[in-house]
Amino acid sequence: KTGAFTYDPGFTSTASCESKLTYIDGDQGVLLHRGYPIDQLAEQSSFMEVAYLLLNKELPDSATLDKFTHTITRHTMLHEQLLQFYRGFRRDAHPMAIMCGVVGALSAFYHDSTDIADPHQRMVASHRLIAKMPTIAANAYKYSVGQPFVYPDNSLSYAGNFLKMTFGVPAEDYEVDPVVESAMDKIFILHADHEQNASTSTVRLAGSSGANPFACIAAGIACLWGPAHGGANEAALNMLREIGTPDRIPEYIARAKDKNDPFRLMGFGHRVYKNFDPRAKVLSKAATDVLDKLGISDPVLDTARELEQIALKDDYFVEKKLYPNVDFYSGVILSAIGFPTSMFTALFALARTVGWVAQWNEMITDPDQKIGRPRQLYTGPTQRDYIPLDRR
Ligand code: SDX
Repeated sequence: KTGAFTYDPGFTSTASCESKLTYIDGDQGVLLHRGYPIDQLAEQSSFMEVAYLLLNKELPDSATLDKFTHTITRHTMLHEQLLQFYRGFRRDAHPMAIMCGVVGALSAFYHDSTDIADPHQRMVASHRLIAKMPTIAANAYKYSVGQPFVYPDNSLSYAGNFLKMTFGVPAEDYEVDPVVESAMDKIFILHADHEQNASTSTVRLAGSSGANPFACIAAGIACLWGPAHGGANEAALNMLREIGTPDRIPEYIARAKDKNDPFRLMGFGHRVYKNFDPRAKVLSKAATDVLDKLGISDPVLDTARELEQIALKDDYFVEKKLYPNVDFYSGVILSAIGFPTSMFTALFALARTVGWVAQWNEMITDPDQKIGRPRQLYTGPTQRDYIPLDRR
């Protein structure tokens, strides 16, 4: 064929890497963080424990956890001038647009933790990113609703502080609801890390050039925003609300199966899981628990359950091994807590910052690490001579 390569559709140029952080068995629906099953971590640990585990290889003892939590807590404030940065955005800017901008700008404010050759600066940058993401995300929400920013309250837990900064107002006291706090912490754990997904691979590739950690995490946020990735939690709830009642489910199942229709069932399917996403199982149960404890009945949850049952019995979904993923039920819980759908992916980014930072540290401290440079399978024209303009 004129000397061009014959394109092999089966060829995929996936750059693989070695890592000790997270193991996924897509066929069995297994997810382990440093060997610990995700369902045990979600039910028995805290997000600060999981953050320490991913960053430091082992679960912390009580004194170590207190010290780590204190370190994170004391970095939760933002440089006061950074707060002015928000005022440059339109009020209706998507929170992910603000997150991309503000996190990318952190390197302009925290010069003392951008030298990646210095282990101390790397750890300070890591702690700053984990600590400041809740403040950055909460401020994005406050700015969108025209309310004043609420400063961090270091007497609260990581999740509690985030809830107060998001939903608290200076004019009133804010009591953290323990049911909501526990659900928020569990959601953070379930979104913390997930092997070499698109946004984590983006962080690693950006980091491999020696870019500062704040810029790398901003790159990860940009990638996560896509509806095929982290943006699916917002899209899934919008889809469930659009379906409305269970009697309309067959119409959407048919559309998802129609190759001429670009519509896909949001919150279903996965690049790796060809079985249940174990995080979806935990979130499915948590959705019922949280809504029951909050005394909320949301018809969207009934629609989600009915849709899951129908899809799991449908030949198309069975044959293609499409199951609910982490994004299918998370929106029901986040909506019950009071978040608008526009904040869902920002919450995913908040939690995934722990994984991104841990993966970045693992990559940057690998003595054999080189700049990432995926190759390609060239399918363009073979070499040919230039044709002058007057002969074209
Ligand atoms: C996340 O990688 C990660 O780990 C990501 C993540 C993380 O924690 O970082 O787990 C988070 O991103 C979860 C995924 C969230 N995205 C969605 O829920 C969007 C809806 N899902 C799809 O767009 C899709 O399932 C993807 C993007 C997730 C995966 O797409 P692929 O790679 O095409 O999936 P596949 O190869 O398994 O698809 C097999 C077939 C294909 O059809 P054929 O080409 O064989 O004819 O199933 C079809 C797909 O078109 N298919 C779907 C579908 N998902 C796949 N058809 C209808 N609805 C769907 N949701």
